Amino acid sequence: MIARSLFTQHYRNLAPDTVEFAEGVNVISGQNGQGKTNLLEALCLFTGVRSFRGAKNAELIARGEKFARMELQFFADQREQNADLVITDKKQATLNGVKLAAATGFIGRFCAVVFSPDNMSLVKGGSAERRRFLDAAISQQFPAYPRLLVEYNRILAQRNAFLKKSSSTAGFESMLDIWDENLARTGAKIACKRAEYVARLCGKTEEIFDGISSGRDCIRLRYSCGFLNPDSVDETARALQSQLEAHRASDLAQGCTNYGAHRDDLHISVNDMAARSYASQGQKRSCVLALKLAEASLLEEAAGERPIAVLDDVMSELDGLRQDYLLNHMEGWQVFISCCDPHTVKGLDKGRVIEVEDGKFNRR
Ligand SMILES: Nc1ncnc2c1ncn2[C@@H]1O[C@H](COP(=O)(O)OP(=O)(O)OP(=O)(O)O)[C@@H](O)[C@H]1O
Ligand SMILES: [Mg+2]
Repeated sequence: MIARSLFTQHYRNLAPDTVEFAEGVNVISGQNGQGKTNLLEALCLFTGVRSFRGAKNAELIARGEKFARMELQFFADQREQNADLVITDKKQATLNGVKLAAATGFIGRFCAVVFSPDNMSLVKGGSAERRRFLDAAISQQFPAYPRLLVEYNRILAQRNAFLKKSSSTAGFESMLDIWDENLARTGAKIACKRAEYVARLCGKTEEIFDGISSGRDCIRLRYSCGFLNPDSVDETARALQSQLEAHRASDLAQGCTNYGAHRDDLHISVNDMAARSYASQGQKRSCVLALKLAEASLLEEAAGERPIAVLDDVMSELDGLRQDYLLNHMEGWQVFISCCDPHTVKGLDKGRVIEVEDGKFNRR
């Protein structure tokens, strides 16, 4: 997948213009507040998902204007394509001249893997962030998976509500048995799917991390789940059900469910130490990058198309070797990297530099 050019009009602070992109690396350079992230954000809206900054439609339109319009020329599915997006209070999307019912119609047609500083929570944050990452990645490949999550969360909420009721109610124990069985069955399917995905993610992440760190550091991933038998969903369900039964008294005392797929984690270690507690800033950044690029590689294997890589503000905290890897050694990727430091640009062997100043572009 290759983004050829992007036209924007009335998009945040960007001056109406068309920017052409290189097939390899595109460095978007400029001082703070000039429009670098705005350009990357505009490009990524063509993936059909909401702004990676979580912005509302009204925020995307230049102040004082009524609409924003963008047009993307791109190569995917072995042909040149064009997509058009008009943003008012809603988004109107057109793909190759055909109006789509919603911008979500772009999903799967133009794909990007995005690194933004907010993603650092994947390593720095709690286990919920890592479960969210796994669940989102798995959902992209297995359309039935989101339904499992909805089902699990529904049963969990009902079980928790039930735990808060008086346990002296007639039939309390047998009702709880039913919740436990349902929770265990659905939780086991989720855990086995996550374990299977992590098994595939491991190799790719290790390989990419090795490249980013020039072999100096070693990353390991492990899906941590106290009831998993990776070879059998039934065995996993039985193990979870036994745990739920064994800890029923403490669940009742606390009014919540302490075991299950909602407590699992993806353990990330660097050089055999937990990344969250021991890794340096640059190592943490490299972990997140490797995880995201590995996710994109797995998606590519499934869909046959490599997403573009959009790396916003990734360079700070990375040493020269790591920066060099992103600038010059991401073979086969079309990369968009924003940076503030002019020295970074000097390290680029080939590719395009797009300078942004007050929303206007200078190409070099
Ligand atoms: N809807 C809008 N209308 C007009 N200007 C906007 C709008 N939304 C954001 N801006 C302006 O865009 C600029 C921010 O652009 P952006 O976030 O792309 O900066 P950046 O170049 O990525 O900076 P940094 O290096 O700090 O990340 C700010 O000056 C902000 O006021
Ligand atoms: Mg920015």
